[in-house]
Amino acid sequence: MSEEAIIRLEHVCRQYRRGSETVHALKDISFSLFPGDFVAVVGPSGSGKTTLMNLMGCLDRPSGGRILVHGREVQEESEAGLTRLRRTVIGFVFQQFFLIPTLNVLENVALPSLFTGKKQRERALNLLEKVGLSQRLYHLPGQLSGGEMQRVAIARSLINGPSILLADEPTGNLDSRNAERILELFERLNEEGMTLVMVTHNADLVKQCKAVVRIEDGAMVQA
Ligand SMILES: Nc1ncnc2c1ncn2[C@@H]1O[C@H](COP(=O)(O)OP(=O)(O)OP(=O)(O)O)[C@@H](O)[C@H]1O
Ligand SMILES: [Mg+2]
Repeated sequence: MSEEAIIRLEHVCRQYRRGSETVHALKDISFSLFPGDFVAVVGPSGSGKTTLMNLMGCLDRPSGGRILVHGREVQEESEAGLTRLRRTVIGFVFQQFFLIPTLNVLENVALPSLFTGKKQRERALNLLEKVGLSQRLYHLPGQLSGGEMQRVAIARSLINGPSILLADEPTGNLDSRNAERILELFERLNEEGMTLVMVTHNADLVKQCKAVVRIEDGAMVQA
């Protein structure tokens, strides 16, 4: 029996308009993500990595081609359907952290669970311990270092127990010790059954992923 892809991209392209210019950010990408995958996405700056992550995370829609999540075509889903998918199935760590500046660390992490109706203070505390921030629960984002904000964003992405985690340079602001710690957390999550996709420039982290997708100038090339 062939396993069903969690996310499947078929001939996906994405163009942006910039004034009178059209930017071909992704060109004809076909790719499947299967349960238990742990994929590194690599490529030069501007090659289309964030664009690809946004499409896989249903934060954006393709200009052409099809995207299927759990066999369902994203283009045919309502906004409400996509929002539900994002909240319950997909965790997302953004390249910029997007923390709420007026909420403390614990509140930022627990925030997404408000929308799913689960009481998750305990889970938020547990996740913050996992990322090494138990000593920072009541700090505001403005009182944290870049690496600490990154770790809050990672804890927040996990609060609703997603089956897929999409992380756009999750270790970009971390020193090697903290980057290694985040990778260990990701490996543990992967062993527990989570599917992970991570954009990274860190060659050591790439080596520890199970597969590598290389993007150059909007196209997938042999890694
Ligand atoms: N909203 C937008 N409007 C116009 N052009 C955009 C937009 N977002 C991205 N682009 C362009 O699309 C291309 C791909 O951008 P993308 O952010 O996906 O690259 P990236 O691989 O994530 O780069 P980096 O490693 O610097 O994060 C770039 O040329 C970028 O300038
Ligand atoms: Mg990017």
